[in-house]
Amino acid sequence: MENQIITPKRSLTEKTEELLNEQIGMEGKSSAYYLSMASWCDTMGYVNASNFLYKHAEEERQHMLKIFAYINDAGGHALQPEVTGIKHRFESLREVFEAILGHEIEVTKSINKLVDHCFTIKDFTTFNFLQWYVTEQREEETLARRAVELFDIIGEQGIGLWTIDQEIGKLHQYAVETGAGDGAQ
Ligand code: FEO
Repeated sequence: MENQIITPKRSLTEKTEELLNEQIGMEGKSSAYYLSMASWCDTMGYVNASNFLYKHAEEERQHMLKIFAYINDAGGHALQPEVTGIKHRFESLREVFEAILGHEIEVTKSINKLVDHCFTIKDFTTFNFLQWYVTEQREEETLARRAVELFDIIGEQGIGLWTIDQEIGKLHQYAVETGAGDGAQ
């Protein structure tokens, strides 16, 4: 007999489950991507950026696990995503943070698509669950943008890159003080 989910009766639709599993894939890829970036920064001597990204990778894993729990609690089946195509080397520290900002904007679009779907089919339970992610994405984009701005404000010449790395190390504290992101955890 094929394996079957033990609670076949549920309100979660197959489409919503599929989209939630896609979001798991996004969060899993974020975690792997940031871990790869953290390691590259480590090898380049950007100690603070590296610590920032190791923490961020862990946070993304927690974002993924929250959705795992939600799907399974709702009678679905959360699936471990395939994570491939992770970049390991970067041209510069600036490239790393510009890539993070671009990636977070894609995650926001994905969350918005999911929220729009839930609203349309009147799945207000999942809609409500997703509000945490809506708020989180606003904050994560802000944090990534603050990091990218440092490159223009400080400049990369002389001790600029060292200073930028120091400032990136303060971004978690910035998140605590302003509520921008769950980087404080
Ligand atoms: Fe969980 Fe940064 O998206």
